[in-house]
Amino acid sequence: MKAISVHLTDQCNNSCIFCVVNSHKERREGVNKKLLYKFLEENANQGYESVNIHGGEATVLDDFEDILKMIQDLNYKEVSLQTNGRKLSDFNYAKRLYQLGVKLFVVSMHGKDAAQHDFITQETGSFNEAMEGIKNAKRLGAKVRTNTVVYKNNIDSLVEIANLIIDCGVDHINISGLHPVGKAYQNFHQVTPRYSEIMPQVFQMVDQCIKRNTIVTLEGFPTCMVKGYEDYQLQWEDIHFKLLYHNFIIKNYADFMENETKRHGIACEECLHKKNCGGVYKEYLEFYGWDEFSTAVG
Ligand SMILES: C[S@@+](CC[C@H](N)C(=O)[O-])C[C@H]1O[C@@H](n2cnc3c(N)ncnc32)[C@H](O)[C@@H]1O
Ligand code: SF4
Repeated sequence: MKAISVHLTDQCNNSCIFCVVNSHKERREGVNKKLLYKFLEENANQGYESVNIHGGEATVLDDFEDILKMIQDLNYKEVSLQTNGRKLSDFNYAKRLYQLGVKLFVVSMHGKDAAQHDFITQETGSFNEAMEGIKNAKRLGAKVRTNTVVYKNNIDSLVEIANLIIDCGVDHINISGLHPVGKAYQNFHQVTPRYSEIMPQVFQMVDQCIKRNTIVTLEGFPTCMVKGYEDYQLQWEDIHFKLLYHNFIIKNYADFMENETKRHGIACEECLHKKNCGGVYKEYLEFYGWDEFSTAVG
């Protein structure tokens, strides 16, 4: 699938303690709308089937519905929206977004309950709103994929998180390895677990999704860490994203993530998966080094 992907805003109604783009409530807007509109216009009718919207949190923008209308008028077939899900708790709002072309809602769900999720987002009520949002999107007939970022304090709750969201009827659960940039870099030791300490629990979450017939994918984990679960890694080759982030255009998001954000090391030389694995996030290596990888390869 060929899609374009746009970072619509830096602003957000949450302040997640590991936010990869460091969005938070007090952050000033750095997105140039003129550039954004130009990008959407230039790529219209060029074979891009879908527009993937992310941020920050697009639903906090007053003109978000106007932007969706513009995307519709430009003939893009559909929109996928990455969202913290809070605003979708208003059924009528969720319905308007659906009618304006949002056919896939990708909702973040990082905790098994309000205490765990709201601690991450730093916003009381964010869990209940996101849960209601997921249910509303499903009531509308939209597709819902959730994203759970594995961090130091939700490791033992992953199976419960899976059950909670499967009970809402979601179509797909994505499990993300934490990318230690943005706020996650600032809070590195508070949030970043070592892969070698979390994979058994991650696999239990995958197993639970399989047991309950729900599509599950793994994103951002080095291949040597997902032994036996390689088939569940997100297949970037199937998705071709051209991305606008502030004034940068990234022509191939998958290549960018592999070449610019990750590194291979000596441990990778022996590894059978090297060709299909981008390596390990640079910032992870900066703090934790290569020790746990030398025994994991093969
Ligand atoms: C930056 S958010 C923007 C969209 C929306 N505000 C949200 O939270 O879903 C885009 C995606 O990145 C994920 N994310 C945030 N911080 C992350 C991190 N440090 N590592 C990996 N994924 C992260 C979120 O869960 C979300 O799925
Ligand atoms: S991860 Fe999403 S919800 Fe959380 S602060 Fe960042 S942009 Fe906002």
